[in-house]
Amino acid sequence: MFGMDSFEFNKIAGAVLGALLFVMGMGILAEAIFAEKRPIVAGYALPSAEPEKGGSAAEPAAQSEPLPVLLAKADAKKGEGLVKPCTACHSFEKGGPNKVGPNLYGVVERPMASHAGFNYSASLKEHGSKGEKWDFAALDKFIANPKGYIQGTAMGYAGLKEADRRADVLAYLRSLSDSPVELPKP
Ligand code: HEC
Repeated sequence: MFGMDSFEFNKIAGAVLGALLFVMGMGILAEAIFAEKRPIVAGYALPSAEPEKGGSAAEPAAQSEPLPVLLAKADAKKGEGLVKPCTACHSFEKGGPNKVGPNLYGVVERPMASHAGFNYSASLKEHGSKGEKWDFAALDKFIANPKGYIQGTAMGYAGLKEADRRADVLAYLRSLSDSPVELPKP
């Protein structure tokens, strides 16, 4: 009786093994491809608060327009969207809690470092003790570059470089008040 000779057997075994390897290989390949496509970031993308590498954005681009002009056409609603990254550290509602940073309801025209129950940095306290307050100009410079404006501040935020977006943020901050202060005359 002659069944398969061993040569025949080897051929078949080889083919089966080859097919198995091929399937496994495809599996690994597919996994690699699909793993790549899985989104890595959860949550919302931050607006470009980081200065671009190379530093071109660090210059206040040839001074766009004066702040009062920007404020006159600023949009508080847009500003509300732009403060999303701030909400990691600040609450904005009336009577809201201090978080990593102080509550910001009514911050426009508020004396610096004056919100009850918040432990400010020595440097911001010093500015406050000199009678400085958060008028639009001060807020604008602080939000553009916190550490550049208040050296030694504890606010770990890179800064919002676009002047018109800052104006939107200021318009929103202004709206957080029982009686919003007058806008400066353009
Ligand atoms: C990583 C946390 C963090 C983020 C993000 C952040 N802040 Fe702050 N902020 C702080 C801290 C901490 C302080 C207190 C600074 C100090 O004591 O020097 C502060 C202080 C302030 C103050 C001064 C308030 C006062 O009572 O004197 C203002 C105004 C302010 N932040 C606005 C903003 C705005 C607007 C944004 C978003 C564009 C923002 N912050 C994003 C942490 C943050």
